[in-house]
Parts: sequence; structure tokens; C-alpha cells
Amino acid sequence: MITPQTIEQIKSRIDIIDVVGEYVKLKKRGANYLGLCPFHNEKTPSFTVSPAKELYKCFGCGKSGNTITFLMEHDKMSYVEALKWLATRYNVEVEETESTPEQKQLQQAADSLYIINNFAQKFFEEKLFESEEGQNIALSYLKERGFREDIIRKFQIGYNPGNRDDLTKALLQNQFNRELLPKTGLVVVRNETELIDNYRGRIIFPIHNNTGKIIGFGARVIGKADKAPKYINTPENEIYVKSKVLYGSYFARMAIDKANECLLVEGYTDVVSLHQAGIENVVASGGTSLTTDQLRIVKKYSNNLTIIYDGDAAGIKAALRGLDMALEEGLNVKLVLIPDKEDPDSYVNKVGAAAFQDFIAKNKKDFILFQLEVMLKDAGNDVTKKSEVVNQVADTLSKINKAEDFTKLQDYIKQCSSLLKIDEGGLTNLVNKLKRDKIAKDEKKLPFEDANYYLQQSQQPEDVLDDNFLLLNQDEAHEKNVLRVLLEYGLRNWDEQKTMAQYIFEELEQFRFDNLQLESLFNEYKNWYDQGLQPDAKSFLYHPDDAVRSLVVSITVFPHELSQKWDERLEGMNIVNRDTSHYDVDMSISIFKLRKIRKLIEENQRDIEHAKYEDFVTLHQIHKHLKSMESDITKKFGTVIIK
Ligand code: CTP
Ligand code: MN
Repeated sequence: MITPQTIEQIKSRIDIIDVVGEYVKLKKRGANYLGLCPFHNEKTPSFTVSPAKELYKCFGCGKSGNTITFLMEHDKMSYVEALKWLATRYNVEVEETESTPEQKQLQQAADSLYIINNFAQKFFEEKLFESEEGQNIALSYLKERGFREDIIRKFQIGYNPGNRDDLTKALLQNQFNRELLPKTGLVVVRNETELIDNYRGRIIFPIHNNTGKIIGFGARVIGKADKAPKYINTPENEIYVKSKVLYGSYFARMAIDKANECLLVEGYTDVVSLHQAGIENVVASGGTSLTTDQLRIVKKYSNNLTIIYDGDAAGIKAALRGLDMALEEGLNVKLVLIPDKEDPDSYVNKVGAAAFQDFIAKNKKDFILFQLEVMLKDAGNDVTKKSEVVNQVADTLSKINKAEDFTKLQDYIKQCSSLLKIDEGGLTNLVNKLKRDKIAKDEKKLPFEDANYYLQQSQQPEDVLDDNFLLLNQDEAHEKNVLRVLLEYGLRNWDEQKTMAQYIFEELEQFRFDNLQLESLFNEYKNWYDQGLQPDAKSFLYHPDDAVRSLVVSITVFPHELSQKWDERLEGMNIVNRDTSHYDVDMSISIFKLRKIRKLIEENQRDIEHAKYEDFVTLHQIHKHLKSMESDITKKFGTVIIK
């Protein structure tokens, strides 16, 4: 972990204009800077950067964030990478915290594994290109298969000689820890104590993680695999977790982002060959079914996944297994089947790059409809089987559950019911029922994920620009609004006695937030404040928790957004003082309270309807009390209409 002190130092030196300005040509416009958005195509600039708030926001596509999220989004860095990048740029020495002994051990083991892998890769590469055996047996085989030298070098492919222990000897000579070596899979133990090479006489494909470090290897026999397995892969260890890796993701990430599509193939050679053909947005699953973690890697770069598998039954089956999960992740899944027992590698070699791309474009099938066709063919005229198909399709469709996918779902229902020759309304009902069942199940377990989902929803641009701040139609908006004024004005004076933050704490003492994340941000702010840390929005912009950072970005507004709002709102009202902070704070907490009180009134009223006689009096008193609280607040608003 990077220490808070280091993060503090980096934060104090960050100049968002300097960093973003490296990628976007910025022009000064009032207090802000303006440029063409790097996240979507536009001709007139709507990408705004505020040096004061250390934030950027595009009023075209809605992307917003701080210096760190900019680097994460734009250059696909991780949070820690972005911090380190900034540290280098601003000459900050990075200090990392002392970890617990277990963490340390894990970290040390991981570090050593990376170092060993790195050493081994160099060793293999040298053997492939420099040794006679490598050239004669391995390099010639690769060349015969059509791989060019530049692509072999790019993917850092190598060769492990056929002798018992060439690599093992080199590793031991270089003082690598004997105990650790078997963990890497590069070496195996023979006769209990003897170490020998595991990948003897094989071509070696290094497997990189998203940042380009080598986490493992796939080792292929040369030529036909008769006795031995065709590939031997690294066993799972501290750094290689198969379910979290997609081969080629490091080389593909920029291209996936750019093409807004990720091609998924099965094998190492498929990835390498397609790259060689200029198709670089491609990763491989290694022939097993996809995991949620792998789909999330894809989703980081694009929502469009195109699976390119062999057209044989096994290929189709393997592809279908990943479908439901992909839908749940909100990915648009397409499928291309390669004909005639070819795979992408052999096919692109056979027909060439242009024809291959053409084939992909013309044969992309919608995955859900494809699955339906396969199942229908299977079912034939069997009535029972056909009703199973209907259930299966409804189940698949019920996995499309993101609000923004609503029209997509309706389209599917239309197309599927027509293929199934059933009534559209019937299928809709079935899908809805399955969805409800699923929601009922989920609600029991995951309140926090739900909060996350709503947060993502409310980060939509129109949400921020429209009714978020003053009309507050959405329940969530008024809660966010309180945090906005707290972060924005908390440290200013409310009056001679107290700060705005203290005023807000007092006023809201009896109230809770419905949104758990907002509640915890509120409490964290209060905590920091009580410790005398003087928190403001910037203090949270570099919070280690992703969710907190994006929450803070989503509730921070640009000065002109707000003043526009107030201008509209206050038009005709006699406000002389342009400092609207008191008014803003007061309105925000009053609306918050009013909402909560009205909810309580409603609940109380429901209780009254079902109350036993002896409870009635108490409930009625509560009602009166709440009503008077309500009227106290509404008096404050005067002529302002609260929706
Ligand atoms: N695979 C594996 N172990 C095996 C066979 C296959 O891990 N014994 C994985 C590898 O990741 C391989 C992928 O499954 O790349 C697809 O297997 P296959 O189609 O048999 O190999 P190709 O990738 O096509 O390799 P080649 O073209 O060299 O035959
Ligand atoms: Mn192949």
C-alpha cells in the first residue's frame, strides 16, 4: 500500500491542467479550461476542466473525474499505477506502508515469482533466437506456421531446450530460491530432491497481466502432440489465477478500447496470428468457459464482446457456457463460428487479413438468437422439449437486467417469440416473473451492490444537469445534495459560533440517509472533521475506494453549473448577495428533512389505518408532531415550490 503521506504529497503537487493538457488541447475560458473531449468524438469542445476543483467533466458525453480517474480511464492505468505515474512526474518519492507479516510474505513471494518469470522469459527468448537447437527446431517451426519475427518478439515467445535442466541450472546459478522454483511451474521435482525443467523441448508463450508483467506461461510441444499434452500451463500460484486472466489482454487493451469491441478466441496462436494480421483487439480464454472476472476485464474496455470459436459442437458448447454471465454483466454478445474445422489462426492464415475481417463482419450472429436456433433445432417437434426451450430463453432474457438495456430486451422478446411462434405478451410475462423472482432473491443479500447500481445510474449526464439539485424529484438526489453542500461549504462559517459543517451535523442529527454509501461518506466526513482534519471534496477525490471517488465526483458540481441553476431559480427573487452558500445549505438540508418527514408521515398514516384503538392516540400525537415539523420547514421556503 502506498502511504497516505505519499498520496498527500502527490495530491498537493498535481496540476490537473498540466496532466490533462498533455492529452487534450485546452483553452482558458473564464475560471475553467475547455477542449475537445478525448472520450467521445466531437467537433465543438464541451470537455471542461476546473483547476480549482481539480475536476474534469464533459458536457457532451458526461464523463467526469479527477486527475487520477483521467489517467485510469484514458490510459487504462490502475489506481496504483496512476499514483505512481504522477509520483514520477512530480518527483515524489513513493513510500509504501509496512504490511502485516502475512501480507509481506505474500508480496515477497509474488515479487520473486515475477522476477523468476522475467528471468525465464529472457532465457527462453535467447534460446529461441540464439541457440542452434532453438533456431533449428523451434524458430523454424514457428516460421513454417507463418509467424513473423517481429510478432514473435512482441509476444516475447521463446523456447525451452530439450535437455533435462538447462533452465533449472541457470536459475540456480543466479541464486533464485530453490524452494520457490516449483511454484512457478517452470521446474518440477524429480525423485523428491532433484529439480528439472518442466517445459523441455517446448515453445513458450508468456502470459502477461494487464500491466504487462509476466504471470505465467503456456508451453506447446513442437509439431503434433501424440503422447504428451499439447500445452502445459503454469499452475495456479500467488500471481497466476487462471480465472482472472485473458491471454493477450495487455496487448489488446488499447485496440479494444478504440474499436469498442473485444474479440474472444480460444487459443494462444489465435491471438498471435490475428495480431499479425493487424487485428489487435483480441484476447483468448484458453479453451475453458469464461468466468465473471474475465468478463470484467473485457468490460473495462468495451461492452461489445464477439466470440470467435471453431464451428464444431465443442466450440459451440464452450461458447454458450459463457453467455448468461456475459448478459448479466451487461455485455452485448455476438458469435462467429469459423467453418471447416479451422480455427481463427489457421483461417486467417488461409484466407488473409482482409477476407478474415470481412467474414467476421458478415457472419456475426446475435448470441441469444443463435442459442435459440440451436435449441429449436435440437427440440424438433417434441412439445415437452419445446416448452423447455421457452423456459430457457425466458431465463436467458431475464438476465438482461440493466435499466438502460430495456429496449434491447423488448427487441429480443419480439424476435424470440416470433422464432418460437408464441405470443409476445406471454413471453414478456414469463420474463418479468423470472426477473421479479431474481430481484426478490438478490434483495435479501446485497444492499450494498444495489446502492452501487443506483449510483452508476445517477451518474448519467442528464441526471447531473437536470433536476438533481433543486427540483429533487428523485429520492436519491436530495441525499446527494446534502453531501454536496457539506463538501463544498463545510469549512466556511455559518455564523460567529459555528461552521457550516457543524450546523449541518446539528440539523441532521436525528436523520439517516437511505443510501448506505452516502451515509458512510457523511460519517467519514464527520469523523475527519471531528479529528480536525478540515476535509473538503478534494480530500475524498483520492480516496482509495473507487466507489467513494466516483461518488464524490458525481456530487461535485462545476461552479457555473450551480450558478446557472441558482440564476434560473432565483430569478425574480430579491437576492442581492451573490454568495448563495447560506441559502444553498439551508435549502438543501431543509429539502432533505422535508422528504424524510413526509415519508414518516406517510408511514405513520399507514400505521394509523391499521392501528388498534389503544395505539391510536399515540400515533395521532406523532402525526401532529410530524406535521408541525413539516410546516416549520415549508415556512422557510416561502414562495419556492418544492416538488
Ligand atoms: N489448451 C490447454 N491445454 C491443452 C490444450 C489446449 O491449455 N492440452 C488451451 C490453450 O490455451 C490453447 C487453447 O486451449 O491455446 C486452444 O486449444 P487448441 O485449439 O487445441 O490449440 P491452438 O491454440 O489452436 O494451438 P495450435 O494452433 O498450436 O494447435
Ligand atoms: Mn490452432
